[in-house]
Amino acid sequence: MKTFKLATALAASVALPSIGLATELEVTHWWTSGGEAAAVAELAKAFDAAGDKWIDGAIAGGGGTARPIMISRITGGDPMGATQFNHGQQALELVEAGLMLDLTDVAEANNWKDIVYPPSLLDSCTVDGRIYCAPVNIHSPEWLWLSNKAYADAGIPVPTNWNEFVASAPALEAAGKIPLALGNQPWQSNLAFGAMTVAVAGLDVWKQVNVEKNMDVAAGAEMAAVFQAAADARKFAAKSNVQDWNQATNLVISGQAGGQIMGDWAQGEFQVAGQVAGTDYTCLPGLGLNAYLSTGGDAFYFPKLQDADKEAAQKRLAALMVSPEVQVAFNLKKGSLPIRGDIDLAAANDCMKKGLEILASGNLVPSGDQVWSPDVQKQNEDLMVEFWKSDMDPGAAHAQWVENLKSGL
Ligand code: GAL
Repeated sequence: MKTFKLATALAASVALPSIGLATELEVTHWWTSGGEAAAVAELAKAFDAAGDKWIDGAIAGGGGTARPIMISRITGGDPMGATQFNHGQQALELVEAGLMLDLTDVAEANNWKDIVYPPSLLDSCTVDGRIYCAPVNIHSPEWLWLSNKAYADAGIPVPTNWNEFVASAPALEAAGKIPLALGNQPWQSNLAFGAMTVAVAGLDVWKQVNVEKNMDVAAGAEMAAVFQAAADARKFAAKSNVQDWNQATNLVISGQAGGQIMGDWAQGEFQVAGQVAGTDYTCLPGLGLNAYLSTGGDAFYFPKLQDADKEAAQKRLAALMVSPEVQVAFNLKKGSLPIRGDIDLAAANDCMKKGLEILASGNLVPSGDQVWSPDVQKQNEDLMVEFWKSDMDPGAAHAQWVENLKSGL
C-alpha cells in the first residue's frame, strides 16, 4: 500500500512538477461584490493553476476601508504577498519608503513598455524609473447606468443623456421610483461629482482644473454651474438609503431606481444578475454627453517579504496578471477594459464595446488618483458626503472644494 502511494505521488510529481512546491501568497483587495468576486476568482484560479497558491484576503467595505488596513499592515511589519491599489499616488509613500518590491525585471522580461496601453498606466506604476506595480485593468468611473424597467414602469423612454435623465426624474418619482441611486460611502458621491463635472462643464474645464491645476477656473462660473447641478441631483438621490455601491446598483437592477452614476465595474453586477446590456439596462459613458474614459484603474503591488521563494512567486503573479489569458478572463467578469490592446475581446458585451471604442478614439483623461494626492482625494470625499447628504449650500461647497484643491498644490 505504502509503495503504491509513493508510486502515485512520484507519478503525480512527474506530471505536475510544481506539486509540493506551491508557494502561498496572501493577496488583499476590496473586491467583494458579486461581479468583483467573480473577477478576482479568475486571478486566483490562474495563479493556482500555474502551481502556486492564492490565499484570498478580501477586505469588505470598499477601498476607503481597505486601504488604511493594507497600508498599516505593510508599514507595521505584517505585509501580505500582494495587494490591490488604484494606481496613481495611493501607494507612492510605501514605494518611496522602500517597502515595495521592484518589478522592473518582470516588466522588461515581458515587454510591458511595448504592450501596456495607454502608457500612462505604466507611468503610474513607475517611480524614479523603476516599476512597482502590475496594472490589471483600465476602469472608467464615469458612466450612467439606467434601468430599462424603471422607465417602462413610468411609461417614458429611457434617457439618452444626463439632461434627459434630469428631465425624466419627476415622472419617475410619480411612478414611485428613486430617480438616482447613490450609496453613502464617501467615494461614491465624489465619483458622481467628477462624472457630472465632465458632463456639465466639459472635458476642457476638467483638464484645466485637474491637470493644469488652474485655480481660477476651479473657482469660476463653469464649476459653480456643476455645483448647482449637483445640488439638483442630490434631490433625486434623497431616498436612496443604501451604503455600498452594489446595493445602489441593485436598486437599478431591480427597477426601483432609474439610474446610478458608477464605474464600469457596475457591469459585473448586471452580468451576475443575468441582465443584458441594451435589453434590461442602458449604459451611457460620460453620462451620454461627453464620451471619454479616465485611464486609472487597479494595479497590484508586492510588498517586500525578505523571502526568496515568496519573492519569486510574487514575480510570477505579477507576470501572470498582465498575461493575455488572464487579462481576458478577469476583465470580462469585471466589466473593465484590459491594459493591453493585443488580445481578443470578441466576447465583450455592448457596454464594454462602447468602452473599447472610446479607448480607440483616444478620448482619454487621467484619473483623480493620478492627478491628486490621497489627501486631497480624501478631503473632497468628505466634502462630497457632507454636500450630498445635507442641504449644504452649493456656493459654500464650491469654496471649500477650491480650498481642498489648493492644499494639494
Ligand atoms: C474601485 C476599484 C474598482 C472597483 C470599485 C468598487 O476603487 O478600483 O475596481 O471595483 O472600487 O469596489
